[in-house]
Amino acid sequence: MSGEEAPTPQQQPEQEKKPDEPPPAAASDAPQQEAAAAGGSSPAAEEKPLSCRALVLTGYGGYDKVKLQVKAQSQPQLQAGEILVRVKACGLNFAELLGRQGLYELLPAPPVTMGMEGSGVIEAVAEDVKDRKVGDRVIVMNRSGMWQEVVVVSANHTFPMPEQMSFEEGAALSINYLTAYMMLFEMANLRPGKSVLIHMAAGGVGIAATQLCRTVQDVTVFGTASASKHETIAQGGVTHPIDYRTKDYVEEIRKISPKGVDIVLDPLGGSDTQKGFSLLKPMGTLIVFGAANCVTGQKKNLLAMAKTWYHQLSLTTLKLMQSNKAVCGFHLGYITEEELLSRTMLKLLELYEQGKIKPCIDSRYHFEEVGLIVFKYKNVKEVLLFGAYMVALKTEPQTPLKLPNA
Ligand SMILES: NC(=O)c1ccc[n+]([C@@H]2O[C@H](COP(=O)([O-])OP(=O)(O)OC[C@H]3O[C@@H](n4cnc5c(N)ncnc54)[C@H](OP(=O)(O)O)[C@@H]3O)[C@@H](O)[C@H]2O)c1
Repeated sequence: MSGEEAPTPQQQPEQEKKPDEPPPAAASDAPQQEAAAAGGSSPAAEEKPLSCRALVLTGYGGYDKVKLQVKAQSQPQLQAGEILVRVKACGLNFAELLGRQGLYELLPAPPVTMGMEGSGVIEAVAEDVKDRKVGDRVIVMNRSGMWQEVVVVSANHTFPMPEQMSFEEGAALSINYLTAYMMLFEMANLRPGKSVLIHMAAGGVGIAATQLCRTVQDVTVFGTASASKHETIAQGGVTHPIDYRTKDYVEEIRKISPKGVDIVLDPLGGSDTQKGFSLLKPMGTLIVFGAANCVTGQKKNLLAMAKTWYHQLSLTTLKLMQSNKAVCGFHLGYITEEELLSRTMLKLLELYEQGKIKPCIDSRYHFEEVGLIVFKYKNVKEVLLFGAYMVALKTEPQTPLKLPNA
């Protein structure tokens, strides 16, 4: 496979593409080519190499390391259990910000196409795949590679999409909701009447966790987020939004609930883990699932990493025993039990169909526009900080571009 950089609007302004103009790639004849890959098709199609666009991480560092490339490859031969999917939308997760900085150990070394989740339409299936067929709309999970127009994946990593689910919703569901569901229900055993502290409450996992808390009676949710997002998260189910930028969230929680909370979901690390542990009621559960405090800008910040490491929670088992609290760690990327993942996904799809959960899509960008955003704002995180609960990187121009303050 070879990668060639695709023209982006900022590189060739004279060829600037309007948001709802069709993308230039090989999309129109690609389905025919890929059908050939799956088995029967015309010899003419077989001769042509398959080309598709992908967002490739070309090295660790800032946003300029993510490039739109056109990949040319020979027709993919499906192995047993595999399917070919035309990607319609894919999700951007915090792990990709970490991956770009070289801080996500599960992402293969660059050059690599990023993207852990997406949705699309099946264009071919291997002979032994019986429970998926051409034309099915599916959610796809993968370690990487989803920021690409066409992907070959294991059928086991796909889930049929409910009819009413949009491709963007399908792309935004798996990572956020699996993470939130497993933490709340498998680890913390959330029950009626409990209280939960959700940090980054306006983020993808935060919104998923809030919606899932609403499926249980009388759960009180404390949610930290920038003030501008409070109205949104309150509507979504956060009982007490707290602006952690201007207030001490520990004090704010103690004012409302002097004994603290039953469950803390901690994606921050460092001193916030210590604060979370201190806020737990007896029998409470702290779940550590991220280290966002290490991320302060575009590039790796060694000082922030050292500070986070230095202030991390340190406990002896004796102290833990005497505290009557539980400390857990969660990392979706290290869950290899496919049965557990499938069971949880099916449960989530059921909740979606019942209208109890719904991914919140803040912004959508076409592949070409990812470069444009970098160019225009210099800081993609700024764009995310406007309230990106999830960014769906669309591969087809179905929705007009919506840039904050554009
Ligand atoms: N262990 C796992 O399996 C797993 C899976 C998924 C995610 N995670 C972790 O969960 C956390 C949330 O991920 P997400 O995808 O939900 O995030 P996201 O959607 O990108 O949310 C980002 C929001 O979080 C807030 N924030 C707080 N501190 C931040 C920081 N240092 N850098 C950037 N944003 C910060 C910002 O909102 P405000 O303006 O309101 O502060 C920002 O808009 C991350 O730590 C991620 O690594 C872990």
